[in-house]
Amino acid sequence: MKILVTGGAGFIGSNFIRYWLKKYPADSLVNLDALTYAGNLENLSDIENNKNYKFIKGSICDDNLAYDLVQDLDLIVNFAAESHVDRSIMDCRDFITTNVEGTRTLLEAAKSASRRNGKIRFHHISTDEVFGSLGPSDKPFNETTPYDPRSPYSASKAAADHLVRAYWHTYELPITISNCSNNYGPYQFPEKIIPLFITNLLANKKIPVYGQGKNIRDWIYVDDHNAGVDAIIKRGRLGQSYCLGGNSELTNFKLTKKILSFMGKGEDMIEYVTDRPGHDLRYGLDFTKAKNELGWRPAVNFNDGLKKTIAWYKNNQAWWQNIKSGEYLEYYKKQYGQ
Ligand code: NAD
Ligand code: TYD
Repeated sequence: MKILVTGGAGFIGSNFIRYWLKKYPADSLVNLDALTYAGNLENLSDIENNKNYKFIKGSICDDNLAYDLVQDLDLIVNFAAESHVDRSIMDCRDFITTNVEGTRTLLEAAKSASRRNGKIRFHHISTDEVFGSLGPSDKPFNETTPYDPRSPYSASKAAADHLVRAYWHTYELPITISNCSNNYGPYQFPEKIIPLFITNLLANKKIPVYGQGKNIRDWIYVDDHNAGVDAIIKRGRLGQSYCLGGNSELTNFKLTKKILSFMGKGEDMIEYVTDRPGHDLRYGLDFTKAKNELGWRPAVNFNDGLKKTIAWYKNNQAWWQNIKSGEYLEYYKKQYGQ
């Protein structure tokens, strides 16, 4: 199979490429990535000489490039996105450009190539955040939950999902979508809570908990997410969405306490800071459909995955020390007057 992976130099995409080439070594993968602040070729330094892997620097918004790349493909897996909620609150222009217009560009390229060479399968990576925010005792989201995005990030992801489904209904482009919960694991850019807190603590810096730390997220180890995407590509029904949850809902405070305890640090390292505007209270995902139809479920226990992730950041300090996440944090603090 010949596969175009977009956003493969980012966190989940790079783990996906490593996962896929290990499991399906005869497949060939092209990684199209614009190398924004979040894209890092060091994430794939162990893969770069694999004869079945090729990197192309470019944007998913480039019509001509997309058109050229899709001509002899079997599958597109679209990870490329602006992915950080806080950045979308500061300025959402790039979110609309990449997440919406970029997805349209790829869909259009896939559609035009389909007409000439048979159908190209399109798998789109989405998020549970498109469903909105749950109350403390609400049932978790599932595939029938109406979309209700509430941040500029989730609104852009929701728009992209709707377009992907529109290409299925209108043009019969063979699509699938996965809506996944919060990922963690190696190579995650240290602006998201888990790598930010681990790297701050390794550098003996305080860790900023928004508000009172009562917000809840459902955590999934990145390899579990990618195994779910694999299952959908191999066994999912066309035109369908699948929720991939981690079975690990935690308040940010409980998550913070676990990180502190696994790293041998005390609660004095916490700095409570002004809350994120419009902060969604809770995400949770019911993955019964993926379990029943695909035989998929998350395999990594949260404590084990978190310990493994902490060990990775401890053993790969050069990787994250090269990344200037501090600049972003300073900007956020200025913006919200902390
Ligand atoms: P990331 O920010 O780590 O990586 C995004 C990658 O996309 C980067 O390599 C970046 O260079 C690339 N990119 C950005 N704009 C591009 C463009 N115009 N053209 C080509 N490449 C471009 O993100 P991530 O955490 O790996 O997320 C990957 C996907 O998974 C996204 O679609 C995101 O919405 C989705 N998702 C993420 C999570 C999570 O917890 N991180 C959860 C559910 C879904
Ligand atoms: P984040 O990792 O940004 O993912 P998302 O907003 O997509 O869920 O944030 C996860 C949770 O952690 C969210 O409730 C916001 C909170 N958070 C903090 O408390 N402090 C931080 O420094 C960050 C980045 C997030």
